[in-house]
Amino acid sequence: MSLFENEKNIQSTNPRQGFARFRPLRATQAIRDQHVEVSISASDFIYPYFVVEGEKQKQAIASLQGIYRLSIDELLADLEETLRLGIDKVLLFGVIDNSLKDDMGTAAYANDPLIVRAIKAIKQRFPQVSVFTDVCLCEYTSHGHCGHLHHHDVDNDATLPLLAKMALEHARAGADFVAPSSMMDGQVYAIKNALDTAGLPTRILAYSAKYASSFYGPFRDAAGSAPAFGDRKSYQMDYRNRTQGLREIAADIEEGAHWVMVKPALAYLDIIVQARMDYPFANIAAYQVSGEYAMIKTSAAANIVNEENAFFESLTAIKRAGANQIISYYAKEFIRKGL
Ligand code: PBG
Repeated sequence: MSLFENEKNIQSTNPRQGFARFRPLRATQAIRDQHVEVSISASDFIYPYFVVEGEKQKQAIASLQGIYRLSIDELLADLEETLRLGIDKVLLFGVIDNSLKDDMGTAAYANDPLIVRAIKAIKQRFPQVSVFTDVCLCEYTSHGHCGHLHHHDVDNDATLPLLAKMALEHARAGADFVAPSSMMDGQVYAIKNALDTAGLPTRILAYSAKYASSFYGPFRDAAGSAPAFGDRKSYQMDYRNRTQGLREIAADIEEGAHWVMVKPALAYLDIIVQARMDYPFANIAAYQVSGEYAMIKTSAAANIVNEENAFFESLTAIKRAGANQIISYYAKEFIRKGL
């Protein structure tokens, strides 16, 4: 039989019948929809919020078009829509005035912190929302680094009790998950100990494989958290490493993390895939970070890509790689546009 003789009859992808045919599976939208392996729903998303002091504050962020810094009242108003879309998980970042920052990041964990008030307000109004909080000092330190400085570098062990205190404040206020992102060694261990000692069941979402990335640029603009000098390469991971990211994940699971994270997402899909294979039962979150969002926004504005197609494709790729949850500034648009 010649290779092409019976091609009209071949409906399967079985190569024994000549050659593999995939196109029948792609013939129409309906048929394509019947063969989908990966789809995303609202429950996969965690939506990030930037919280500021005051009332009626809705501040545009130049580098993150469509995302705002919101005062707590505005955040509650916005949450109504987020919930209507079916997204019930949020990740909170505090943004404070420079005048309130000091070298120890005190505002993160003392004197009724902004995020503590935000958690309480959300929980009171919308108890069904799962509140995740970022646990890191860079938004609160005058130098913009993620911990306590010693000779121009972050002192790992001196930072741990500060992170534990911050996490404890969030947990006491009712956070469902605390999410340590400072990339200090032992941050999960320190937080877990503090929570256990206080008898709090609060879960830990560990930013485990967090790479020193150029894609955090817009976030630092949004949160006012750019380091005043140097960079974060002495604590965030070197992107030339893969196995080290897996070891970070292993250590965090060992230390008591309930969920782990890979961040950023799109440039690190290999890490997500490998983590999924190594830890089939782990809950792996991936963060489509500010730079990933801004790249799609700006290239769409320049008519280089179709925005919807680009974010559907990117977010689906993150889920396809094996992420259980996706933190994304596109979460609401994704659901609004429907898949
Ligand atoms: C805090 C933190 C950062 C992000 C999440 N938590 C900034 C950083 O590490 O510099 C980045 C998120 C984003 O870019 O969307 N350390």
